[in-house]
Parts: sequence; C-alpha cells; structure tokens
Amino acid sequence: MKMSCRLRDRKEWDVRASTLARNTFNPIRDIIETLKIKPNPDIPYIALSVGDPTAFGNLQPSENIIDTICEMARLNDSRSYGPTIGHWEARQAVAEYSAHQGPVTADDVILCSGCSHAIDITLSVIADAGQNVLIPRPGYLIHKTLGEGLGIVIKYYDLLPDEDWQIDLVSLESQIDENTAAIIVNNPSNPCGSVYTKKHLKDIIEVALRNRVPIIADEIYEHFVFSKHEFTSLSSLSKDVPVITCSGVTKRFLIPGWRMGWIIIHDRNNILGKEVRKGLFSMSTRILGPNTLLQRALPRILKETPQSFFDDTMRFIENQAHLAYQELQKSPALRPIMPQGSMYMVVEIKMSLFPKFENELQFISQLCNEQSVLCIPGECFNYPNYIRLVLTVPEDILREACHRITKFCDEHMMKEKLKIPDNDIVSIVNGKSSEVSSKQQMLKNIS
Ligand SMILES: Cc1ncc(COP(=O)(O)O)c(C=O)c1O
Repeated sequence: MKMSCRLRDRKEWDVRASTLARNTFNPIRDIIETLKIKPNPDIPYIALSVGDPTAFGNLQPSENIIDTICEMARLNDSRSYGPTIGHWEARQAVAEYSAHQGPVTADDVILCSGCSHAIDITLSVIADAGQNVLIPRPGYLIHKTLGEGLGIVIKYYDLLPDEDWQIDLVSLESQIDENTAAIIVNNPSNPCGSVYTKKHLKDIIEVALRNRVPIIADEIYEHFVFSKHEFTSLSSLSKDVPVITCSGVTKRFLIPGWRMGWIIIHDRNNILGKEVRKGLFSMSTRILGPNTLLQRALPRILKETPQSFFDDTMRFIENQAHLAYQELQKSPALRPIMPQGSMYMVVEIKMSLFPKFENELQFISQLCNEQSVLCIPGECFNYPNYIRLVLTVPEDILREACHRITKFCDEHMMKEKLKIPDNDIVSIVNGKSSEVSSKQQMLKNIS
C-alpha cells in the first residue's frame, strides 16, 4: 500500500544503475580508452594487446574439435537446455581430464561460461561484501573487477620479478587478516608467464594452512608451459587447504569465444562443507547453464585432441618468447623478462631514460601514435613502468613490432643519461658491439 503511494508520487524519472553495476569496472578497457591513441595511418597497426590467441588467425584449433562441433550441432539435445551445472557426461569428462589435480568426480565439477564466469561464481560464494580476497600484483585484474563489483575488498600480494615472479610469501602472509575469505593464485600467470615449482606451491599452501584461508586457483593456463618447465596443479599438493580450481578450454584449445569453463571443488577434509558446495550449485542457476553445444562436444574435445596439437602450439609460443626476448634486449631502455609459460611477456621500461614521458601510459600512447604498435600498460595489471606483450601473433608481425619498439626507444631515450657516446648506444641497440656485455650490465642498473 505504502509502495503504491510512493509510485504514484513520482513526478520525475529516476532510473539508476545498481550498486553492483556502478562498482564493476574493468581497468583494461578503461585505461586503454583514456590513452586516446591514434595509430600512425602510414604504418600497419599491430595490436600486441589482445590476449586472444585466435586474434590473428595463425593459430587454429585442432581439426577434431571443429569436426566434433559440426557433428554435435546436428543433435537436438545440443540445442536444448541442460542442467545448470552441466550435463553429467561433460562433467565426468572434465573430472577425467583433471585427474592431475587430485581425486575429482563429476560431482565436484560445475560447468561455466568460461573461466571468468567460474571465478565470478566462486567469488560470489566464498566472500561477502566487506570481506577481502588477496590477488597477485602484477595480476590479471578480472579478479578485481569481479570482486569489487560484489563489494569484496581486494588486497594485493607482491610477485618478485627477479625470482621468476614467484609470490613474495612474506607479503602474502602480511595481507591476511580476520576478514580474508580467500587467496587467488594464478598459475601459470597472466601477465607474467611464470610457472610455479612444486616447492613454491607447497610454500603457498603452507601460508594458507597456517592462516586457515581457502585458495582459489585460477589455472586457465594449465599445461600451457614451455619445454623446460612442468605444470603442477596447486590442488594436487593440498591435503588440508580447500582449493577451488577455475579453468576451461579457452586458451589451451584455442577456442576462447566458445565460452566453456569450469569450477572444480577440492575439499578433501570437508572444510567448505555442504553450504559452500550448495552455494556454488545455486549460483550456477543464475544463467541456466553454459552452452550445451560445447557441453555435448566436450568429452570428445578433451579426450581426442592430440598431444601433438598442444606441443605445436607451445613450441610456437616458446619460440616467439625467445624472439621477443632477443629483440627487445637490444634496447638498453628495456628489460624483457623471459616467461616460462602462458602466452605473454612482461617488459620493464626504464622510465628514467624517458623524462619526457610521465609514466608508461604516455610511453605507450606515443609508441602507438608513432609506430602503430599497441601494448598493454603495466597500470592495467597494477604494475606501473612495465608493459605486457602478447606472444601469439604471427612471427613476422612480432619481429616487426619488436623492431618498432626498440626503434621508438632509441629515438626517444635520453642518451646523455647513459653517459656513453651515442654510437656505442647504436652498436648496443644493434647488438653488435664486442663491449656489449659489460655495457649492457651497466645499463641494466638503470631503473
Ligand atoms: C588469468 C586469467 N583468468 C581468467 C581469464 C578468463 O578466461 P575466460 O575467457 O575463459 O573467461 C583470463 C583470460 O584472459 C585470464 O588471463
């Protein structure tokens, strides 16, 4: 009754966005938009910014995936609604595929619309507004976007660039307080490309155990590692700490747009209990389940995709990483950090050599305006003075992009700051001087 009076009293329109919508903010979109970039129209534009391995068309999914999808599209029940947590056959296939994570049954699996949806559901169940969740710095900020939308406080723990981006365990533990609902660990990492050793993962679990905090393992890049590195799933090492793993077919199977991800609940000592499990299932009802065509195809995609397909993809990305590393190292103004997996490389910009740029955002927009190469600024990962490159672009394009980046650095850096003659810089830039190593050593000390 009261309500209807209020409604009748409305004289003006006053339609507002919800608090959730107002609190939801994707920093990558926002920062890139504020850069106001205008690529040089005289040079072909190269986007090293898009974390989509299919963007340039050079990396194609395995033939069996296309064939299976075409076949399944003819079945009526690939078009029908399914159970909101996903069809049993698809969940069973994910459980078998994920056996490296520890004991998993179909009952532990919830299918989602991509890994970001898996993270969204998990965060919304594990934390209330006002509680906090710890995420890595630098890190992929989808965790922040999703968490802050829900009113969850995001706190950061540091990664160590000079120790293969391992987690600074002291920083991690110092961030935990009585309101900490979960720690998010992203391994292999976007943007760093780090792949954690078993020992490091055990140390992380130890911190979580000591403080009784569950872990959300974002493993969307699982198995996406270079030849000398081994991927270990965090949950496989945890006896006591509950781990909720979020993953999917997005990156490894090169089908990001088909939106198939999942949550796997590892709760060996029944710490999460029925309530959290039930909460995860309840939250899956909000979108009536993910794409059923993909669900129907999933068992065959997971079982029949040949190892040679994964090997070829990883060999390509690893070669690209070496190429970018060698090319970018030629500039004394850049410090590329060699990744161990995933599909990105982080590069430090020695900003003190570019006093005319206030920060790496200005560096990046000027780079794009002059050289038509767009990279993602470190700011988008909460890590200024660094940039991220995507390695999945075709080889000739990556080479050309690196060449343009080093050329840009050479044209804009203050060579007087290096205190060595200009032609020496050039010889270092070209990587030809016999004195390169000692001088490069000196240059590395410039931050
Ligand atoms: C670390 C990380 N987590 C989650 C996602 C989202 O994955 P999806 O496209 O499956 O939602 C990405 C995408 O780039 C990512 O890099």
